Amino acid sequence: MASVGIIGTGAYLPEKVLTNAELEKMVDTSDEWIRSRTGIRERRIAAENQASSDLAVEAARRALESAGISAEELDLIIVATVTPDMMFPATACLVQEAIQAKKAATFDLSAACTGFLYGITTAAQFIQNGVYRHALVIGVDCLSRIVDWTDRNTCVLFGDGAGAAVLGPVDEGEGFLAFDLGGDGSGGHQLKQPAGGSRLPATMETVEKQLHTISMNGREVFKFAVRVLGSSAEEALHRAGLTKEDIDFLVPHQANTRIIEAAVKRLGLSEDKVIVNLDRYGNMSSASIPVALDEAVRAGKVRKGDTLVLVGFGGGLTWGSAVLKW
Ligand code: ACO
Repeated sequence: MASVGIIGTGAYLPEKVLTNAELEKMVDTSDEWIRSRTGIRERRIAAENQASSDLAVEAARRALESAGISAEELDLIIVATVTPDMMFPATACLVQEAIQAKKAATFDLSAACTGFLYGITTAAQFIQNGVYRHALVIGVDCLSRIVDWTDRNTCVLFGDGAGAAVLGPVDEGEGFLAFDLGGDGSGGHQLKQPAGGSRLPATMETVEKQLHTISMNGREVFKFAVRVLGSSAEEALHRAGLTKEDIDFLVPHQANTRIIEAAVKRLGLSEDKVIVNLDRYGNMSSASIPVALDEAVRAGKVRKGDTLVLVGFGGGLTWGSAVLKW
C-alpha cells in the first residue's frame, strides 16, 4: 500500500475580531471569566457576505499553493462542516466550482469538531488503495451563524475559520502511521442544533424558540473531552507502534485550555510540545486542528521528520486521532 501524507496546508481566518471586552457588552460575562474558564481572548467572525465556502476556498488555495499542485490535479474534495452554505448542494461542490477542480469527486462530512480527522482518515484510504492520488480536505465552520448571541454559556466559546490540507503520496515511512476514530451516539443530545433538519424543519415556532442555535451541556461535554483526548491519542500511538515519548507535537482540538491541559498531563507532555491557538480564535469546530497545524508549519515549528499527533473530539459525540511523520 502506498504511503500517504499531508503535502500542503492552508488556513483562512475572517478579518473581524470579536474580543472578550466586546462580549461583555452583549451578555452578562467578563473577560476574566472567559479567560480563566476557557483560555479564549478573542475570536474571528465571518463578514455578512461570507459563508463557509468562501472561507474554505481561501484556505484551499493556500493549501494547494503550499503543496505545489494545481486544482486540476485534485481527485477528491472533502469538506468537513456543520455549517454548510446550505443543506445541499454540498459545500465541497461549491468549493470545487470556485477553484475549478474539474475532475474531483466531492462530498461533505458531518462529524462536528472531529470533522477534519474523519476527513483526512477517509481521504487517506482512497490514496493508500491507489484509487486517487491527491485529495483536498477542508475543515470549515461559521459557528457564529448558529450561536445564540444571548446565551453566555455558548456564545463566548466559538469562532469562524477554515483550515485545509492536501493529501498525496509520500516516501515510505513518512506520512500517516495510524488513525483512531470513534463515536458514541448515546451522547448526541449533549451538543446539538435541534432544528433545521427533517426532525424539526424550520417554522416560526422553531425560530422563536431558538432551536436553530447550538444547545450544549458544557459540563458533560467537558468530561467526555478530557476522557477521549487522552485515550484516543494513546490508541493511535499504540496502533502506530509508538509511545508518548515519540511525540514531537500534539495538535489537539482547540475548545478549552483546561481540556487540553488535562490531556497533556495524562500524556505526560511538556507544554512546548502542544500547539495552542484558541486564545486568538476560540473553538472553530472542524477548522481548529487544520488552522493550528498550518500555523505551526508556517512558523517553522514543525519540521520534516517530526512525529505529530492530531486529536479531536466533538458533537455526535465523536472523537479521532491521527499519528503522522512530517
Ligand atoms: N460568563 C460568566 N459566567 C458564565 C458564563 C460566561 N460566559 N458561562 C457560564 N457561566 C456561569 C454558569 O451560568 C454557572 O453559573 P451558576 O453556577 O450560577 O449556574 C457558572 O458560570 C459555572 O458554570 P459551569 O458550566 O460549571 O462552568 P465550567 O467551568 O464547566 O465552564 C464551559 C463552562 C467553559 C462551557 C466548559 O464546561 C467547557 O468548556 N465545556 C466543553 C465545551 C466544548 O468544548 N464544547 C464544544 C465541543 S466541540 C464541538 O463539536 C462544537
